[in-house]
Amino acid sequence: MSKCKSSSRQRISDRFDSFVDKHVIWQNPLLQACSKNTLSIDDYGFVISQHFYYSRGFTRLLSALMMQCDNDYYRVELSHNLWEEAGEENQENCHSNLLRRMITNTFGLDNPDQTNFRDYTQQYFKDCLDYLKNSDLVRAAAFLGWGTEGVVPRIYSHLFNGLTSQGVPSDELLYLSLHMECDDEHSEVIEAIALDACNGDTESHWLAIEEAISHSLTLRDRYFTKLYEELQSKKINTLVQQITNECPSTDLMQPGGLHTRVDKSGGTPLYRSNEEDQEISFEVTRFKVASEVIDPRLLEIPVGKRNEKHKHAHESIFYVLSGEGVVYVEDKEIAVKSGDLAYVPRWYDHYSKNTGGNVLRILALTDYGLTRCFSKNTERSYRQQPDKVAL
Ligand SMILES: [Fe+2]
Ligand SMILES: [Fe+2]
Repeated sequence: MSKCKSSSRQRISDRFDSFVDKHVIWQNPLLQACSKNTLSIDDYGFVISQHFYYSRGFTRLLSALMMQCDNDYYRVELSHNLWEEAGEENQENCHSNLLRRMITNTFGLDNPDQTNFRDYTQQYFKDCLDYLKNSDLVRAAAFLGWGTEGVVPRIYSHLFNGLTSQGVPSDELLYLSLHMECDDEHSEVIEAIALDACNGDTESHWLAIEEAISHSLTLRDRYFTKLYEELQSKKINTLVQQITNECPSTDLMQPGGLHTRVDKSGGTPLYRSNEEDQEISFEVTRFKVASEVIDPRLLEIPVGKRNEKHKHAHESIFYVLSGEGVVYVEDKEIAVKSGDLAYVPRWYDHYSKNTGGNVLRILALTDYGLTRCFSKNTERSYRQQPDKVAL
């Protein structure tokens, strides 16, 4: 390949890499939960044992692409990928076996092949296989290259970092770390197949590639959301069982679990918006008592400022600790002062303004501990400047 062709190919490849970066999958609640370290070992066990269905079928996806590939050189390259999948000389180390062992050792699930694979797990794999079998070579290779293999290192690092944060030794996670290292090379081969099959730099081919990438990422995004929803509904079911079975669950020994001071030193910053020259300036501090549903926060608004207009799934009771202001709920204006209580129902636009001469301090008691169990209700989902959320 000439240098010129190689640099233009690099440019084209960069275009698709940045297309991948812009996809909504990177805001998926499951990946965010990994980053925020809010999943338990059992949660990871569920997610990864479901993923095993895809992993043990993966060679079928590669083979589906290989079947469509009329260039023998590329078929050799794909055979090499298959050879690596097969564990090379030692078939005991084929990738599906690495994952079998990881599921057994790390999560104590003895027979991964007997997992109750959910319908949506099986459907996700079937959708991938059907797409590869029924699309032209450009789309099939783009789907499997940028859309699947290319994102594996990034997706697996979410799982790897989440699990090591939970105290799992990294050498138990060979299946993940191996793919974080080698799947870039695999995706390069597959992406080259897509680009070669384009036969010239035509915009319609680029659009076909983007369409295939988008389809692949969207399928995975929906699949991850289903997994996340099931994890969350398990938490809600546990809560319901605790309530109905009169089962106390809060850990009384948890440090700070039963008592905290309502000031910044007693909590952790959740959100900060402090552009002094603007009308909007406020801080939110969250308190980590052991409550399961009630999530208390302190909202502080400087003199003359207000917080952003927003709405969310959780309902809030505002108790004014000090200062004076107005709480706006839809078209209602509620004048409040120290000692007052105001109610903000879920999903109503609201904001608060400091109209007094001192900082307005409001203790907001929310049921975020419940509403966060439903997918997409994250702190970032309802903030106008999500990058200012500290979590
Ligand atoms: Fe693999
Ligand atoms: Fe709010």
